[in-house]
Amino acid sequence: MNLQISSFDDYQAAYTHSVEDPEGFWAEIAQNFQWRKPWKKTLEWDFSKGSTKWFSGGKMNITENALDRHLATRGDQPAIIWESNDPHEESVTLTYKMLHQRVCQFANVLKKHGAKKGDRICIYMPMIPELAIAVLACARIGAIHSVVFGGFSAQSIADRINDAQCNIVITSDGSFRGNKEIALKSTVDDALIQCPSVQKVIVSTRTRTPVSMLKGRDVWWENEVKTVSSECPAEEMDAEDMLFILYTSGSTGKPKGVVHTCGGYMVYATYTFANVFQYQPGQVHFCTADIGWITGHSYIVYGPLCYGATSLMFEGIPTYPDAGRFWDVIEKHKVDILYTAPTAIRSLMGFGNQYVEGKDLSSLKVLGSVGEPINEEAWNWYNENIGKGNCPIVDTWWQTETGGILISPIAGITKTKPSYATLPLPGVQPILVDEKGEEIVGNDVSGNLCIKFPWPGIIRTTYGDHERCIQTYFSTYKNLYFTGDGCMRDEDGYYRITGRVDDVINVSGHRIGTAEVENAINMHLGVVESAVVGYPHDIKGQGIYAYVICEKSPGHDSDLTRRDILATVTRVIGPIAKPDKIQFVSGLPKTRSGKIMRRILRKVAEGETGNLGDTSTLLDPTVVDEIKAGAL
Ligand code: WTA
Repeated sequence: MNLQISSFDDYQAAYTHSVEDPEGFWAEIAQNFQWRKPWKKTLEWDFSKGSTKWFSGGKMNITENALDRHLATRGDQPAIIWESNDPHEESVTLTYKMLHQRVCQFANVLKKHGAKKGDRICIYMPMIPELAIAVLACARIGAIHSVVFGGFSAQSIADRINDAQCNIVITSDGSFRGNKEIALKSTVDDALIQCPSVQKVIVSTRTRTPVSMLKGRDVWWENEVKTVSSECPAEEMDAEDMLFILYTSGSTGKPKGVVHTCGGYMVYATYTFANVFQYQPGQVHFCTADIGWITGHSYIVYGPLCYGATSLMFEGIPTYPDAGRFWDVIEKHKVDILYTAPTAIRSLMGFGNQYVEGKDLSSLKVLGSVGEPINEEAWNWYNENIGKGNCPIVDTWWQTETGGILISPIAGITKTKPSYATLPLPGVQPILVDEKGEEIVGNDVSGNLCIKFPWPGIIRTTYGDHERCIQTYFSTYKNLYFTGDGCMRDEDGYYRITGRVDDVINVSGHRIGTAEVENAINMHLGVVESAVVGYPHDIKGQGIYAYVICEKSPGHDSDLTRRDILATVTRVIGPIAKPDKIQFVSGLPKTRSGKIMRRILRKVAEGETGNLGDTSTLLDPTVVDEIKAGAL
């Protein structure tokens, strides 16, 4: 494949080409992939209808690009190296040949249980090789996977299954994370009470914790694979057929199912993987994300495999058995590229340098950061202690909706600057706008970040509700894709993402909608109303601060109520959405029209009670004093 940029001049030329002739630019890149039939139209788009199509009419299957194509040239090269949660358990290497064989075999299991092209299949699994195999097996037969992160609750799984009407669930008995063992199948069982569309559950074993297996519905992965052949021709897909759904939080209502399609996503994930990290043949790429998030989809599975890379998949957490685990994994597998989140960096930094000292990190060439803004202190620590001043840091900005990285340095090519995502990749046309949607031109300016031209990885729709896709991304500003992020462009034209400007908070790199958390809290007995905002948190980036109005009952024990509310949020959404702070209040600052003034709540949560701005439009300004006095 010949799609790597090799110098800054090269980047500038590619960028110019991509803006002057986007179709020509991407058509050339797309030639590097295997198509069964050429596409008829490179691009059709209309942002006013939230509609984009790339390479339509082109026939292909992403797994032929991720697997079959490599068999002749690198069949015996590791495709996936798996490292267990337990440092004493042997790691597993799957070569391209082995992975191909196991994907085909499992694809046949899916077919045997009635799966066909277009079906939606929910995957709720730990970070074990079977997860990657399940994802690819769905793609092989043209079924649409919907991976749900293993930390979500039964209720969240049920909502996602029902929204997409999945007919099959693939799960595991349990998962290991640090010293915890988490029951996954039993959570799925709880979810399925509410999910009539599900016909089959396929269960792989990991923890071998006792699980109930329902006759007629549940089958064991290990038994099923023995009954099928390991030959499975790939289903022919149109470039614009759906590849997957991935649910993500927005500022309103329930999470939405972001839809990506086969062709454009493949081209974009692979192009950005190859360029941003400057992957060289034989290198080991270690992305620490979970495949339950977009980062894992694009930079553990699809991007690396389509590029013929070796992708390291880690089951555990950075602090088990101790805060040196990442460095042990890097030393053991001679990792070349490490791609992780600022939260992890800040947390490991907090444990002190003794966990890094003495570890051989000399294999590292490139460091990546993703998921939230990286502060300068963490950037510098990462650079000095992990990269030893020799590894370019790529601070990659992107979103579930963008499919792949949009703004980022190209490793070793773009000059970096701490806490800056720097420059747009070829094909990406960012624009800053003010509240009215007027373009903010020039440098040394700030505004809301939008993108004015489609790139191949852009969201195609929100599953089952295209109107919501238009409303969320394409209506705020006419003819622009609105990211929801605030951004500054400095005097050099470098971009720095400053964080969400909507009601989405980013906790440890996980996107959480404040409305979702409020809905969960409001379900708790005795809660009258709540308002949730984010506040700066040293390790997590942002923490969750909840203001809650409760019915006063005699003998009210607020500590116990606090814990009960946390239990409710855990049950409704999952532990990742638990508020860090809950302040009980008797009222919320509302305008006369009944709107909560979140600006005030954010300021109080940030500890900035001195300057709350204009509060004269409040219905009852005295609630502000009470809130200030009780601030946590
Ligand atoms: C934030 C994760 C600053 C941003 C790939 C975005 C970032 C949201 C960065 C998307 C970065 C992601 N610098 N902020 N390098 N990367 N974000 O959908 O607010 O889980 O809108 O995708 O994370 O989160 P998502």
